[in-house]
Amino acid sequence: MRVAIDVGYGYCKAVGGGVSAGDSSGRRVIIPSTVGPARKARGLAVAFGDGRHRDGHDVTITVGGEDHAYMIGAAAGRRSWATEAAERSGYLPLALTAAALVGADGDTELLLGLPLAMWLRPEQRRALRGELRGVEARVAIDGRRERTITVSGVQVLPQGAGAFALALQTDPSLGERPVGLIDVGYRTTDYVAMRRVSGAVAPDESACGSIDLGAGRVFEAVRQALSDRSGVMLPEGAIEDAIANYGGRLAIRGQDYDAAALVDAEAAALATAVEEQMRRLWMDRLDLMGAVLLAGGGGDLLHRHLRHLHPRTRIVRDPIYANAAGYLAMAG
Ligand SMILES: Nc1ncnc2c1ncn2[C@@H]1O[C@H](COP(=O)(O)OP(=O)(O)OP(=O)(O)O)[C@@H](O)[C@H]1O
Ligand SMILES: [Mg+2]
Repeated sequence: MRVAIDVGYGYCKAVGGGVSAGDSSGRRVIIPSTVGPARKARGLAVAFGDGRHRDGHDVTITVGGEDHAYMIGAAAGRRSWATEAAERSGYLPLALTAAALVGADGDTELLLGLPLAMWLRPEQRRALRGELRGVEARVAIDGRRERTITVSGVQVLPQGAGAFALALQTDPSLGERPVGLIDVGYRTTDYVAMRRVSGAVAPDESACGSIDLGAGRVFEAVRQALSDRSGVMLPEGAIEDAIANYGGRLAIRGQDYDAAALVDAEAAALATAVEEQMRRLWMDRLDLMGAVLLAGGGGDLLHRHLRHLHPRTRIVRDPIYANAAGYLAMAG
């Protein structure tokens, strides 16, 4: 089976390959990119009648006869900010867990993404491939049946390129003009400019790269602001939790606060920063692009604020999964 995994700094997205090459209709999962030591005595969610809405997975991975137990997901705590992809602690358990959750069992070909700036360094691609290729692991999740995943092949692809490949497959007319794609993630923003050379759509390499801006800073800024205002240091993830589960409302020491408006203001500020950088980086190209596509979870968050970047700025379908699904399209 082929599995495409976009291991972002914020979230790990996986899409299982369907029956035919390039098919991305398989199962999808998204898990926060957090890996921590195992925690025992779980299963309380099941006792409350809901085994599906757990905040993390108990995962045991057996490699070379050695068991490693992890807690993976929001319950695991903090995110890893290592910049060398292969050295990010938890990369392997995250990728294997995501692969197992979309149904990988037996021989598995992994399609993995790297931030574009990192992908452009061959040693980064090699290190990641080297860490995963040939791995044979038994993976057990939440006490369910173990499966053995054998990584029979690894392809490392640049972030942003997957989302573009998928958009082009859906709408081939995108290839009729130069086009830009901006993938706003949790920590990085990857940008790709594509143009036609001798009939083929190809990246305009001097106009592709990564910038150090992402949706994570929106939540961080709001967390700081509300911590200052309330005098209570809010934990990481508190704002995302309020937005995702409580309509943006949160109570701090009995006082109600609304994070939604603050998030919107910070999203506008981030959009301005992204827009400034992109105008500079695409200085003589932007006006000649037929469209600018936005992808990534951050693209979703910012797209209303990025409308003025280009008259044809639009968000791709399924922006969060676009890279992973697109890797399957590229490999097919
Ligand atoms: N349903 C959702 N689940 C998770 N995040 C979401 C969702 N909808 C929007 N988001 C936003 O998407 C952001 C994460 O985007 P994305 O998954 O593209 O980042 P990433 O790929 O993990 O990061 P990077 O590309 O920097 O490594 C979150 O900060 C959040 O604001
Ligand atoms: Mg990403």
